[in-house]
Amino acid sequence: MTEEFAGKVAVITGAGRGMGAEISSRLAQAGASVFAVDLEPASESAPGIVPVPCDVSDPRAVRAAAASVLADAGQIDFLVNGAGLVSVTRPVETISDDDWARLMGVNVNGALHWMREALPGMKARRSGKIVNLSSRAGRTLANFAGAHYSASKAALLGLTRQVALEAAPDNVHVNAIAPGLVETPMLSGSVDERKREAARAATPLRRIGTTSDIAELVLFLLSPKSDYITGATVDINGGDLIL
Ligand SMILES: NC(=O)c1ccc[n+]([C@@H]2O[C@H](COP(=O)([O-])OP(=O)(O)OC[C@H]3O[C@@H](n4cnc5c(N)ncnc54)[C@H](O)[C@@H]3O)[C@@H](O)[C@H]2O)c1
Repeated sequence: MTEEFAGKVAVITGAGRGMGAEISSRLAQAGASVFAVDLEPASESAPGIVPVPCDVSDPRAVRAAAASVLADAGQIDFLVNGAGLVSVTRPVETISDDDWARLMGVNVNGALHWMREALPGMKARRSGKIVNLSSRAGRTLANFAGAHYSASKAALLGLTRQVALEAAPDNVHVNAIAPGLVETPMLSGSVDERKREAARAATPLRRIGTTSDIAELVLFLLSPKSDYITGATVDINGGDLIL
């Protein structure tokens, strides 16, 4: 339990596995009440974590899920938009309208839907922190995904900056992080071992990121230690962007 998170209410999307699961469990251990949103929330519930089944790409489902969180907890102090889909690398001319819409629907619209629900209460209370999980793909390009992934993650950065400016007068902080490769089911499901090893060897710090690396940064951005940071994109990639 830590003072900065005790009693706080956090909504984490994409909390069923990977980065979202790690962030949820760290926050719960630190004393926050965590609402763990996912298409497939973890079946075993841990202390302090309430699973919330919800498709973030569906605005009505998000409205209903947010209403249930507010009915249960009264407010939302923290929102982490981590739900995401990746794509396989392929030429842009082969990306169908459906594929494009599916990725945008989760990676961009999902964050928009949850911010729309969380912001009014945060602004009214003049307190709130939002962290959007973008990607290095949104800063430069994706090594292992298509243009729809890069475009969705770049759009999320633009959304983050604009909402940060709007929310700043009400003391609501909105930031994004841009991870390089991180060991999660998303990575192992989309990139084979040989390519992962080549990527590791080419990373200046000579390792792939861990969910722990990511959770440390996100908890910093949710804590009072980051009270003068908003509208930022924080790179976390083992030095990839030096190159
Ligand atoms: N793993 C990486 O190398 C990497 C790098 C940079 C950025 N990211 C981004 O970080 C975030 C977390 O990635 P991860 O590696 O932990 O992914 P992951 O695939 O391991 O976990 C993502 C979670 O999002 C959930 N999800 C997907 N669609 C959803 C929907 N419509 N509604 C609700 N939940 C949904 C999935 O069920 C899953 O539990 C993603 O946005 C991803 O794009 C990942």
